[in-house]
Amino acid sequence: MWAILAAAGSGDRLGADRPKAFVRFGDQPLLGESLGRLDASDWVDAIVVAAPPGWEEPSILLAEELGCSKVSSCVTGGATRGESVRLALAEVSEDAAVVLVHDAARPLVDDAVIERVLTALNEGWDGAVPALPVPDTVKRVEGERVVETLDREELRVVQTPQAFVADVLRRALSGSEPLSPWTDCSAAVEATGGRVKVVEGDLRLQKITDPIDLERVAALV
Ligand code: CTP
Ligand code: MG
Repeated sequence: MWAILAAAGSGDRLGADRPKAFVRFGDQPLLGESLGRLDASDWVDAIVVAAPPGWEEPSILLAEELGCSKVSSCVTGGATRGESVRLALAEVSEDAAVVLVHDAARPLVDDAVIERVLTALNEGWDGAVPALPVPDTVKRVEGERVVETLDREELRVVQTPQAFVADVLRRALSGSEPLSPWTDCSAAVEATGGRVKVVEGDLRLQKITDPIDLERVAALV
């Protein structure tokens, strides 16, 4: 099983002086937390990191410093998350049966959730995503006007790590045209007819997006 760690975003909403992956989280750059956890997982055989442009070298050094021996390569990320994953996927071995895609912005990945998504693939699904119920009421809007209140019972908040049969993900991300502005890989797999299972997510897998998230998620370690 190969893992892709999407870490190439700029972190505009975080507004730091460096890409989000290199903002301090505890006593190391944010990227180090998920990288160390994936490297330590018995489920993961090899890792490809998509690094922010200009931060390839520091990413490799960080992996070496942490003794992450499973890091196979580090690619320069693309303009969107989808492009970054596509570039990283090109470095995944042809022999890989399963690809796990994870956001570096979700530092607290653990074996329990990895096991849940992999179990779904063993059941015959093309992909699996961790998900949580929606705690808030969700409305569709046009400009300032509310046009619809959605039934939140039907909705889920989806996280990473997401697992896919390798060939299914390759097909979903193939081609040279720019990908749709999907914010996760499952969307690309769904769009190509893939069957994706929803498994139980983890509250600790919250994404670091805004400055307030840094302390909040660090407190969950
Ligand atoms: N990501 C990526 N390549 C991109 C954009 C995003 O690999 N071109 C990764 C991010 O590094 C992150 C994950 O996708 O781990 C989720 O993206 P997001 O939380 O939106 O991170 P950023 O794009 O960095 O943040 P922002 O949207 O605030 O700029
Ligand atoms: Mg983004």
